[in-house]
Amino acid sequence: MVIGAGSGIGAATARQLAAEGARVCVADINLAAAQSVAESIAAAGGEAFAEFIDIAEEAAVNAAVAAAVETLGGLDGAHINAADLRVIFEDTDLLAEDVAVFDRTLQVNVRGHFLCTRAVLPALLQRGAGSIVYTSSGAADAGDSSRPAYAVAKSGLNALMRHVASRWGREGITANCVAPGFVYTPEMEAGGQVPQSMLDGFLGSMPATRLGKVEDIAGVVAHLLSDQGRWINGQVYNVNGGALMR
Ligand SMILES: NC(=O)c1ccc[n+]([C@@H]2O[C@H](COP(=O)([O-])OP(=O)(O)OC[C@H]3O[C@@H](n4cnc5c(N)ncnc54)[C@H](O)[C@@H]3O)[C@@H](O)[C@H]2O)c1
Repeated sequence: MVIGAGSGIGAATARQLAAEGARVCVADINLAAAQSVAESIAAAGGEAFAEFIDIAEEAAVNAAVAAAVETLGGLDGAHINAADLRVIFEDTDLLAEDVAVFDRTLQVNVRGHFLCTRAVLPALLQRGAGSIVYTSSGAADAGDSSRPAYAVAKSGLNALMRHVASRWGREGITANCVAPGFVYTPEMEAGGQVPQSMLDGFLGSMPATRLGKVEDIAGVVAHLLSDQGRWINGQVYNVNGGALMR
């Protein structure tokens, strides 16, 4: 189950997992986008179906996960990836920003992941094994003069992941985070809203020959969800072209 899979990194993970033979639930608050991703997977010969989910709402989370488990007959793994990125430009600095921006960021980007984890874990435990991968961000560790709520939420997500890894590792569950650096998603490119000067700035700040692509992140998530990733637990994987080295 990929949560927040209607576009960007989540859509790429859903495609990658399906290409590797998984049956995938493509879940998103934007059901039309999720349906379009699921249809493109089916057109490429994979198996996928869409579900509506709003990770800010506990009932919606539980209903979506129950529907996915029912359709799939169980659950092997979840990529919990959704974030509310609409308010990120209002996440300016601690003195300037509206408290509502802080609240909304934490409500979706960390509390939402808490709710998703509570919903998917019983299904994973029932099979005696399973993996959760969260999408964090290099912002959790970078130290930034802007986006304080986003960084706090992603740091919280890293802590939430370590709790899950340590509490349920002995019961066959692994939990890890992937922490992307700037990834130029197809939707960002199509929207044309990221100025060229900003793209040049990102590229100039890292020892790499190109910007990050959604597939760079999807490949790592798929590995963490695969049998080959079984002994990786409690880690934050930075995938950022070397922009942040730890
Ligand atoms: N693109 C980057 O540069 C970058 C860098 C670091 C981390 N990230 C993280 O990667 C993840 C994906 O980002 P992206 O760049 O692909 O963005 P995106 O906007 O393309 O994808 C986010 C998806 O989450 C969905 N979503 C938003 N709110 C939701 C909610 N309440 N319930 C369910 N779904 C919801 C959106 O509809 C969207 O499909 C996010 O967690 C983001 O913080 C992205």
